[in-house]
Amino acid sequence: MTRSGLEGVVVADTRLSEVDGERGRLVVAGHDIEGLAGGTSFEALAELLWTGALPQAGAQGRTREALAEGRARAFARLEAAGPGRFADGMDALRATTAQLAADDGFDTPAALTGAVAVFAAAWARVRAGGRPVAPDRSLPHAADYLRMIEGEAPTPARAAALEAYLVTVADHGMNASTFAARVVASTGSDPVSAIVAAIGALKGPLHGGAPGPVLDMLDAIGEPDQAAQWVEAELAAGRRIMGMGHRIYRVRDPRAAVLEAALGRLEQAGVTGGRLALARAVERAAEGALRAKYPDRALAANVEFYTAVLLDAVGLGRTAFSPTFAVGRVAGWCAHVLEQRATGRLIRPASRYVGPPG
Ligand code: COA
Repeated sequence: MTRSGLEGVVVADTRLSEVDGERGRLVVAGHDIEGLAGGTSFEALAELLWTGALPQAGAQGRTREALAEGRARAFARLEAAGPGRFADGMDALRATTAQLAADDGFDTPAALTGAVAVFAAAWARVRAGGRPVAPDRSLPHAADYLRMIEGEAPTPARAAALEAYLVTVADHGMNASTFAARVVASTGSDPVSAIVAAIGALKGPLHGGAPGPVLDMLDAIGEPDQAAQWVEAELAAGRRIMGMGHRIYRVRDPRAAVLEAALGRLEQAGVTGGRLALARAVERAAEGALRAKYPDRALAANVEFYTAVLLDAVGLGRTAFSPTFAVGRVAGWCAHVLEQRATGRLIRPASRYVGPPG
């Protein structure tokens, strides 16, 4: 029997993350996401994914240095890559990353993770009419990403909010882009090719392309008291509510709560995108309407819902949302490539022929 969408099919043993859809829990290499997103640096999270352990206190320099080196080397490649000619940030990211050669030193997790941040930032910068900004080795990865987009170092509160986001999305079980990366890695191909495939998968609106449309939706709704009516009309027209529903979670995505908390911290620091109250009203309305339409299928907010509100409050334009997702998720993709190479077998499933008989 065909398992539509491979739902429920286990394709790998992994030590990287566990997604418990019934209880709404995400564990990354033995650590709850709530604890990690509350203060772990992106560097430490990357080290956890790539080595299996968080760095000892005071020993975070190694990964920070490797990421900074990756950013510097990628920036040196930037002119030839020319991300600005692409209207879409994910097209730019895919094309620029594809120009890296694994045999040129871009086959390590830190080199690739550094490169994705540089290319995503350069695209956002060039599309806004500026010139790419060179990375700053002295800054942490998240802060430098914002700096390369904006031209100046961000406030600590904005850098911390972005860092919480990057940590939150770095890995998430066998999602579609991670699976794409593992399929390519399983053939013995190089890590650059695996990451390029993953970027292509992440681009789709059913995966990483939803946060931009979530913000479009909030704009279209405008006021909290319009939420219920708007959501009802969308569902009646047969359209999906972006940022709601998930293949695995049968309760609210725990990452939605983590990002909502990061938004709260940002507001306390005086930074507000002004959309949090509206977002909460839309979430309530959408949850209610979806419960009425699909009483047997719990459809609640997913990570993308509050991603949109958080990245907007941090100051990123909506076209940069999906590339920024890749800036975080690439750490997980790289970890899965390592794991696939170390323990996996060629991924080659079967299909059922339903065409005319020969
Ligand atoms: N709005 C309206 N209806 C939705 C919905 C949403 N956000 N999510 C699911 N549904 C509907 C489906 O259309 C399906 O209805 P049908 O049986 O009449 O066709 C039913 O609920 C069950 O869907 P399900 O099997 O749970 O969806 P899935 O596992 O195939 O897809 C998503 C999961 C995430 C692709 C889906 O929920 C979706 O499209 N969400 C919006 C996009 C989004 O937020 N993506 C980011 C994911 S992190």
